[in-house]
Amino acid sequence: MISKLFSKFNIEGIGELKNRIVMSAMTRGFADKDHCSTSEISNYYSKRAKNGVGLILTEGIIVHPSGDGYNNVPHLSNEKQMQSWKKVVNDVHSYNTKIYAQLWHCGRISHEDYTKGHGVVSSTNIAAEGINRQNQKPFGKPRALAKNEMNKIYEMFQHSTELSLKAGFDGIQIHMGHGYLIDQFLDANVNNRQDEYGGSIENRIRFSLELLESLKDKINLEKVSVRISPSRTMNGLYEWPDKYPLLKKLLKEFDLIGLRQLDISCANSNYYETSGKIIREIRDLWPHILIGGASLTKEEALEEVDRGYLDMVTWGRAFIANPNFVELILKDLPYDKFENSMRATLI
Ligand SMILES: Cc1cc2nc3c(=O)[nH]c(=O)nc-3n(C[C@H](O)[C@H](O)[C@H](O)COP(=O)(O)O)c2cc1C
Repeated sequence: MISKLFSKFNIEGIGELKNRIVMSAMTRGFADKDHCSTSEISNYYSKRAKNGVGLILTEGIIVHPSGDGYNNVPHLSNEKQMQSWKKVVNDVHSYNTKIYAQLWHCGRISHEDYTKGHGVVSSTNIAAEGINRQNQKPFGKPRALAKNEMNKIYEMFQHSTELSLKAGFDGIQIHMGHGYLIDQFLDANVNNRQDEYGGSIENRIRFSLELLESLKDKINLEKVSVRISPSRTMNGLYEWPDKYPLLKKLLKEFDLIGLRQLDISCANSNYYETSGKIIREIRDLWPHILIGGASLTKEEALEEVDRGYLDMVTWGRAFIANPNFVELILKDLPYDKFENSMRATLI
C-alpha cells in the first residue's frame, strides 16, 4: 500500500496535489538586477517539480523595496517582476506540481543598503542585535511604524498578492516567522509598543490579523498559507515568551478569519525540540491543514503524517542538495547532505 505521504492530497481552493511532499521556502539570491526571476530559477524549480514534489513554496519574495534586506532576492511589486514569474509557474505546472509565492517583508532585519532610499521600519525602534551577514553591517536602525502607516504595509502585501495571482501562482504563503516584520509584532521579546499593536496578546496579533483581513479583497483565503515560527534555535532555544496563550488566541482568530493552511517552522533547528513540540500541543486547536518539518527522515515523516500531526511535510536543504529528492526517498536510496558550498550555485 502506498503511504499517505506519497498519496494524492486535496487542498480546498487549490485542488489535488500529487503527494504531501513540500519544498520549503528557501532564499537563494539569484534574482537579476531588477529583482526579477530568471530562466535559471525556473530550471531549478522545474527540476524538483519534474521529479515529483507536490507543492513548491518559493523562496521569500519581497513585497516592496522598503522590506528588503538581502542580496539579489526577487521582488513582486511591479508588472515586470510579475511577468518574470509567469515562466516559473508555467514550467512547474507542466509537471503537475502546485506552487505558492512566499511573500516577505524583512522589517528590521534589513538595512538601508537594500531599501532603495526608504527607512527601515518595524514594530519597534530598537535595532536587531548582530550583523546582517548579507552586507556584514549591523542591522538597520528601525523606525517604529505609526498606527496610520499600517495600511501602507497591508497594501504592499495586497499588491503582491494580486501580482502573484496574475502570474498564475496557485496560492501564496505569508511569511510571519523567523524574526521578520510580522513576527516583530507577534514576538513580545521584540514588540515594545504602547499602543493597540503592542502589549497584550490581542494587541500583538492585531497586525497579522488586519493584514490577513485586508487580503480577503484580493484572494480567497483558502489559497493562503501562513508561516510562523514560535520556537526555533538561534544561539540556544528562542521562543515567543507566551507561545501557548498566544497560539491559542492566534489560531482561533486565524480560523475565524478563514485561514485554512498553517506552516509551523523551526528554521534550521531540530524539529522534535522545537516546532514538533508545538505541533503536538496545537494540533487539536487547528483542525485545518498543518504543515511542518525540518530534515525529517522518511520514516519520521511517514510517522508524523500517519499519526495525524502533519498533513504535509516540508523539506528544505535536502531539496537544494538533491533535485531528485522525492524519487530518492520514495525508492529508499541515499541522498546527498546539504553543504554550505551548495548555496553558491543553483542546480
Ligand atoms: C538557504 C536557505 C534559505 C532559506 N530561506 C527561507 C525563506 O526565504 N523563507 C522561509 O520561510 N524559510 C527559509 N529557510 C528555512 C527553510 O524553509 C526551512 O524551514 C529550513 O531549512 C529547515 O528545513 P530543512 O531542515 O529541511 O532544511 C531557508 C533555509 C535555507 C537553508
